[in-house]
Amino acid sequence: AVYEATATAPVNIACIKYWGKRDTKLILPVNSSLSVTLNQDDLCATTTARADLAFERDRLWLNNKEEEIKAGGRLATCIAGMRSLRREFEKTDNSLPKIAEYHVHIASKNNFPTAAGLASSAAGFAALVSALAQLYKLPTTPSELSIIARQGSGSACRSLFGGYVAWEMGTKDDGSDSRAVQVAGREHWPEIHALICVVSDIKKGTSSTSGMQRTVETSPLLQHRTSNIVPERMTAISKAIKERDFPTFAQLTMADSNQFHAVCLDTEPPIFYMNDVSRAIIATIVEYNRAAVAAGGEVKAAYTYDAGPNAVIYTLKENVKEIIELVSHYLPHAVPFKDAYGLFAGTQPVGRLPAGFNEAVAKKFEAGAVKNLIHTSVGDGPQVLGPD
Ligand code: DP6
Repeated sequence: AVYEATATAPVNIACIKYWGKRDTKLILPVNSSLSVTLNQDDLCATTTARADLAFERDRLWLNNKEEEIKAGGRLATCIAGMRSLRREFEKTDNSLPKIAEYHVHIASKNNFPTAAGLASSAAGFAALVSALAQLYKLPTTPSELSIIARQGSGSACRSLFGGYVAWEMGTKDDGSDSRAVQVAGREHWPEIHALICVVSDIKKGTSSTSGMQRTVETSPLLQHRTSNIVPERMTAISKAIKERDFPTFAQLTMADSNQFHAVCLDTEPPIFYMNDVSRAIIATIVEYNRAAVAAGGEVKAAYTYDAGPNAVIYTLKENVKEIIELVSHYLPHAVPFKDAYGLFAGTQPVGRLPAGFNEAVAKKFEAGAVKNLIHTSVGDGPQVLGPD
């Protein structure tokens, strides 16, 4: 018999950033982190896993291209981790077919370009463990699966849940307490939307993996961040999420993006992930918030940047249209904006500025500085597509 299962898993974008490992093999972080899971209708990885007695070795295809499963590498570790869970499971029930002994073939696809500068490895490893968990019919919880996904890519552990997710760093040497937990589900605060401004779709210079290791080895600021800053921010942002307090959520998100890029600059040699367009978007969001507060309102948007120049703007649903107009004013985008949420009803943004906005804050970029705008929102965790 052939055994098969398919699952999808979402992308997540961190508000409190993971940057630095205390164990590079097990992927144990130097600080806890927290992210928002994005909607899989817009961004996801879909993975099918098959087990068959006839397969001679484990094989994997990523977007139709075969990838090598290196012995002792991250892929092999995740597959071995899932297989050993199946082996344990088979011991508990003699009627289960002994499919842990079969080799697997795995095929994974993203519904967005791999080089979009998004955390595609996070969605990919989360989909891999979700598909194998389904194939093996494991009674495992998402937190338990997150421990295995973490060993594929640290940020992947947070894609095992929907909504608002913390990766608790843990203290144990074996990593058994370094796992993802859900802070709140999507339905608790569904109004959070995200606008991804794709500034560059070419692959970044310094990978997260090597960049963060260099930071651990050389940055004197990192110690201060992990000991004195992140623990308090984790508590504060969890509280803000529970209370649906957008201004506090936004302030913490922007502060943590800034500090992550500051420790990158504090690395020897320094690492620069943001470019002029990234900085122009920061200036735009800062001025947008200033104008909102000056008019008697509250902070309405937060920017955050990962290991690349692309901006992710978190905001409430009610502000999305205004922010798309604003971004379009400074950064006319070449690729037509895909209006998945029907905000523009067939028209294109014209670059309108909100009331009280000081136009002089950021320089205008030529058309094409923002290659694409992706509008999405907080979403659910991995989905199993069957067979049941
Ligand atoms: C800046 O999870 O890609 O996106 O664990 O080495 O695979 P590895 O690194 P990765 O790092 C992500 C770093 C980040 C911040 C974050 O997602 O928290």
